[in-house]
Amino acid sequence: MAGKIMRAVQYHGYGGGAAALKHVEVPVPAPLKDEVLLKVEARSLNPIDWKIQKGMLRPVMPSKFPFIPATDVAGEVVEVGSDVNNFKAGDKVVASLIRSTAGGLAEFAVAKESLTVNRPAEISAAEAAGLPVAGLTAHQALTQPAGIKLDGSGKPTNILITAASGGVGHYAVQLAKLGNTHVTATCGARNIELVKSLGADEVLDYKTPDGAALKSPSGRKYDAIIHCATGIPWATFEPNLSENGKVIDITPGLSTFVSFAVKKLTFSKKQLVPLFSKPQGENLEFLVKLVKEGKLKTVVDSKHPLSKAEDAWTKSMDGHATGKVIVES
Ligand SMILES: NC(=O)c1ccc[n+]([C@@H]2O[C@H](COP(=O)([O-])OP(=O)(O)OC[C@H]3O[C@@H](n4cnc5c(N)ncnc54)[C@H](OP(=O)(O)O)[C@@H]3O)[C@@H](O)[C@H]2O)c1
Repeated sequence: MAGKIMRAVQYHGYGGGAAALKHVEVPVPAPLKDEVLLKVEARSLNPIDWKIQKGMLRPVMPSKFPFIPATDVAGEVVEVGSDVNNFKAGDKVVASLIRSTAGGLAEFAVAKESLTVNRPAEISAAEAAGLPVAGLTAHQALTQPAGIKLDGSGKPTNILITAASGGVGHYAVQLAKLGNTHVTATCGARNIELVKSLGADEVLDYKTPDGAALKSPSGRKYDAIIHCATGIPWATFEPNLSENGKVIDITPGLSTFVSFAVKKLTFSKKQLVPLFSKPQGENLEFLVKLVKEGKLKTVVDSKHPLSKAEDAWTKSMDGHATGKVIVES
């Protein structure tokens, strides 16, 4: 593909939201030795994509401007680097792109072989593209700090999942139910039935007094809270936690780190744990397998063509997606 030109969507500096996304034509990237070149069929957006544009991770990300955002892609391998052993042209895959260099909002993208996974024919590109950031974050939060065994072999555990209708939350509900758990979830009134259908045992509307207080309708205390919403103070979590309960905060801010340190220093049994997910090929493979087996599904909020990527960007920034926002080629 050397010398070929492709369509892409990029931004040239921090800020500006959807209006700053520019449709351009740029050279198709060439895969390095350990990379595959993909013809991208679908990508999903995550809040981190527009948070990087806002400058939240400056000066580390993006590594340079102009920048083509989006890390979560599904497509077909068209070329492989010289050291790539596991993929060949024509393979259908899903991949997690390197966040600092991204490249997902383009017709073609390069992905590390180690972060690329085969996609069985029965899994659509849109469904697969939802998985990398959101699915892997839900998986990591549940299996690591929360210690849930997804084969159901662990001890009974009460879990609360906040923002269970969102990208991370909707995967977290389904994955949690593969363990020996009772799941309480919060979401807006319009999504209560959906979240129940994903497996939640009880669901709270976050805009009601009991929902805002995170009170389990069955009176349970939570052993772990997978906190996918934002802006809920420790004082709200604390009375709802079991003796050794943990809040796993996937959007940690300064107050999270202060609370984390105070809890450690005072030997508090109740803990606040900041979590930053790390993409891992083997875990992505596990999630793809679950989708194939019908044990995990991607709820698609909306699909947008690449030519209207700014609509998808606006939808993600809005903070009210139900499941994943997808951009198709
Ligand atoms: N640490 C990491 O590695 C990592 C990875 C992925 C994501 N994150 C972060 O995790 C957060 C969630 O990500 P996401 O992709 O799941 O976001 P998302 O898909 O944009 O979440 C949107 C959903 O959240 C619901 N919601 C918003 N506020 C709520 C509240 N107070 N209570 C209950 N539901 C609420 C919305 O419902 P309504 O429309 O009804 O309001 C909507 O359905 C973001 O801050 C993101 O940056 C961190």
